[in-house]
Amino acid sequence: MVLDPQAFMATMEKRISFSDSDKALLKENAAWGKSIALQMAEVFYAYLARDPEMYEILNAKEGRMHRLNETFIEWFGEMFTGMDNWGSAYAARRWRIGLVHVQIGIGPQHVVPAMATVVNEVGKHLKSAGLTEDLRESLGRICMIDLAFIEQAYVEVSSQAVLRETGWTEGLFKRMISTGAAGMK
Ligand code: HEM
Repeated sequence: MVLDPQAFMATMEKRISFSDSDKALLKENAAWGKSIALQMAEVFYAYLARDPEMYEILNAKEGRMHRLNETFIEWFGEMFTGMDNWGSAYAARRWRIGLVHVQIGIGPQHVVPAMATVVNEVGKHLKSAGLTEDLRESLGRICMIDLAFIEQAYVEVSSQAVLRETGWTEGLFKRMISTGAAGMK
C-alpha cells in the first residue's frame, strides 16, 4: 500500500495540532475513558442500528455485533492510552481499521456521522463528570485523526485499484479526476 501510516499520522498530528499536552491529558484520563467505554459502545451501535442499511451490515455475520462491541471498547480505550504513545503501532492499527471498513463497503457517508455520534456522546459524559473543556478538545482532535485514517483508506484503496487495473500514471489519474469534477453538476 502506498500510504505510510506513521508518516500520515505525523502529518495529521501537525495539521490538527494534536500536541504533547493533548497526549498527557488523554493518558491522565485513561481510566475514566475505560469506565465509559461500554456505555459509549452501546450508544454507538444503537445509533448505527437505527439505519436499515447499517443494521443489515452489522447483523450480516454470526457474532459480528458481539465482536464489534469488544473492538469498539478497545478502540475507544486506545485513543486515551495512545498504545505506543501514538506511534507506529497506533498508526498501523488505525490504518488497518480503515482498510477493514473499505473492505466491507462502509463509506464516508456512514463513518462521518458515526464519528460525530462518538464526539457528541463523549461530550455529554464529560459534562456530567465535570471534566474539562481541554479534555473534550483533545478527544475531538484524536477522533478526527482516527476519522481521517478511515477516510483516507478509501481514497488510497480506490485510486490504487484503478492505477493497478489500468496502468495509468498518478498524474493522468489526477487530471482525469479534476476534469471529471469540473464537468459535473
Ligand atoms: C467512528 C467510526 C467507526 C469506528 C471508530 C469503528 C471501529 C471499528 C473497529 C475498531 C473495528 C475492528 C477492526 C478490525 O477487525 O481490525 C471495526 C470493524 C467493523 N465495523 Fe466499524 N467503526 C466505525 C464505523 C462503522 C460504521 C459506520 C459501520 C456500519 C455498519 C461499521 C461496521 C463495522 C463492521 C461490520 C466491522 C467488521 C466486524 C467483523 O466482522 O469483524 N463501523 N470497526
